[in-house]
Amino acid sequence: MKALILAGGYATRLRPLSCARPKTLFPIVNKPLLQWIFERLAKNGVDEAILAVNALTQFYIRQQKPPRYGLKVKFSIDPPKKPLGTAGPIKKAEKLLGYNEPFIVLNGDIFADINYQALLETHRKTKALATITLCSVDDPCSFGVAELVNGNSIKRFIEKPAKGQAPSNLINAGAYVLSPKIFEYIPAGRAVSIEREVFPKLADEGKLMGFCMNGLWMDIGKPQEYLEANKVILDSLAMKNQISPEGFAVKQPIALDQGVTVGEKSVIGPYAVVGKNAKIGSNVRISNSVLFAEAEIADGAVLNGVIIGEGAKIGKNVKLDPGCIVGDQARIKDNVCLPEGSAICPAKEVSENVLKAKLNC
Ligand code: GTP
Repeated sequence: MKALILAGGYATRLRPLSCARPKTLFPIVNKPLLQWIFERLAKNGVDEAILAVNALTQFYIRQQKPPRYGLKVKFSIDPPKKPLGTAGPIKKAEKLLGYNEPFIVLNGDIFADINYQALLETHRKTKALATITLCSVDDPCSFGVAELVNGNSIKRFIEKPAKGQAPSNLINAGAYVLSPKIFEYIPAGRAVSIEREVFPKLADEGKLMGFCMNGLWMDIGKPQEYLEANKVILDSLAMKNQISPEGFAVKQPIALDQGVTVGEKSVIGPYAVVGKNAKIGSNVRISNSVLFAEAEIADGAVLNGVIIGEGAKIGKNVKLDPGCIVGDQARIKDNVCLPEGSAICPAKEVSENVLKAKLNC
């Protein structure tokens, strides 16, 4: 079975961290999201993954080389400066996907425990043209919402309905099985939205089915969701610190990658994920936060609810309030305080207190 992974979006809601990496390479508990996706696909009988990306994303993925778990991996690249949206890349990859068998299409920014074999079985049984994985959420309004009738049939599909207008709580989980006939529903050579142009038409024609999932499902599209995904995975892995802390304290759950050093009297956790070779000084407090690889945190800094980009340097006694995002290679000088929700662009130097949260470039 083949799977097409959509990973060519611009991840605008994750800026400034997405200025330096595509969303699908964001680390979730020190492992790129794409690696988690490959692992699950390989376990579910998929043998080939086609990555629908832009040229820059292809570059980053080739550079990082996430393990493939035996999957054959190919790229299908959007035309330069012409992103194809969420359906255009399916049309573009039609020859790679082939015309004989149904295939999986997956958003490259979801972390989900989907049984792809069961999804495929539902698709085959119902003879659908498209089967969408559906997930139940409390507030469906920022997603595509499905109205189910007669068991699996989707009568209506509405993308981001207005408050109070959602026909159910069942949302598009971003994973589908499509039959090759789908290619006839997608115009070639332009951006096409599967959610707004293709699914509503299929629902009208009675060719759209739903497959309800029960397992874990998370979208990492926004910084808060990204932090939450790390927390949930930390909990589920019940990670125990592999090293016995010497001179510093640990509040589980935490995850420290290889080569991390921590100074005396620091307190790491709860919910701290620290990337490869990060250097943490003494008397530092880190909780509810993710630090990317090579980050450096000097003595006395206090970080709670923040994301620190790769190679960023946080000075002595710096205090970062929840929701702060520090871009890759940025420097926050000694004694600076950043208020809740501040965002610092990659390589930016901040040497004075910031009073009001804003994007600092
Ligand atoms: P935001 O700008 O923050 O909305 O993010 P996004 O556009 O990257 O992601 P969105 O949730 O809107 O898209 C769902 C999935 O489709 C993501 O995995 C994207 O990478 C992917 N995607 C979105 N637009 C394109 C596109 O034009 N081309 C390709 N190849 N993939 C896309």
